[in-house]
Amino acid sequence: MDLEKLRKQFVARLESVRTPGDLEEVRNDYVGRKRGILTALLKDIPKLPAEERGEAGKRVNDFKQFVETELESRKNLLEQPAKLELTDWSLPGKEYHPGAPHPLTIVRRKIEDIFREMGYAVADGPEIETDFHNFTALNFPPDHPARDTQDTFFVDRPEDGPEKRNCLLRTHTSPVQIRNMLQHKPPVRILCPGRVYRKDEMDATHSPIFHQIECLAVDEGITFADLKGTLLHFLRRLFESDVRLSFRPTFFPFTEPSADVSVSCVFCDGKGCSVCKNTGWIEILGSGMVHPAVLENVGYDSEKYTGFAFGLGIERIAILMYGIPDIRLFFQNDLRFLSQFRIVL
Ligand code: PHE
Repeated sequence: MDLEKLRKQFVARLESVRTPGDLEEVRNDYVGRKRGILTALLKDIPKLPAEERGEAGKRVNDFKQFVETELESRKNLLEQPAKLELTDWSLPGKEYHPGAPHPLTIVRRKIEDIFREMGYAVADGPEIETDFHNFTALNFPPDHPARDTQDTFFVDRPEDGPEKRNCLLRTHTSPVQIRNMLQHKPPVRILCPGRVYRKDEMDATHSPIFHQIECLAVDEGITFADLKGTLLHFLRRLFESDVRLSFRPTFFPFTEPSADVSVSCVFCDGKGCSVCKNTGWIEILGSGMVHPAVLENVGYDSEKYTGFAFGLGIERIAILMYGIPDIRLFFQNDLRFLSQFRIVL
């Protein structure tokens, strides 16, 4: 019997196997008890001359071993695709939720970028402030009614020592300007973004927590014209349109003169619409020339230096830019709202 030829035939048969039924056929043809070629061969061994039996028996047994191993691995191979077919391709895929910046972050970054181009640095400060940095150094006398417009949450911790007494949640980011001026000599050009707190009831237009950006420039020879030019450039870049500005006198303890600034309505170009309540103007920020008393409080010579400052609420700008109807949406973490801001401006 030519075992080598038999082996080749077997390998070829195995190659053509496609189904478990095919495999069973091959198994029966080679090692099946009734018609297996190898079973028959083994049965014939005792009929051989005695001196050939040992050698022939070993060769046939080796071959049988080979056949069984091959049949087994073919069986495993056949089972694999069967497993894959268990995947139901009609099921919905896994959802992919990429992260995205919060709308307030998008607006803050946009404002920061405009001021960085003009040579400003971005400065940071603590949210729990001292009364000195938040009010006194900014020229709010101790019992002045101006403090009432910025009522806040006080954190009195006498156990922390005298400096930690009269702490409060900062009501604006102006204390960052005080801290910065106490540390640096003029010229100063900084932008101070951050979270601020006021004792306001939450409603569609108020929140006890909101965000501001304040700007401060102090140098020799700075005038109101610099404030106007800077604001015009900034707001035209921010709203990407040729807005006009209106300045109306107002009062802040830390600026003199002080002005509330409005932009011509970005929705109707000043003609009058529901957003600007038919006035053609939208009030967006407070500004003014830094009060000499503030400069003196941080050790600057108010005869030599002048400066301008302005501050705005980031929520207010975002509400205008995106047409958001309710300030609470910024703080509710509702993905239906937040996922609409995937595109970074
Ligand atoms: N700090 C003021 C506020 O929160 C805003 C402001 C800043 C006004 C700078 C004028 C100049 O109301």
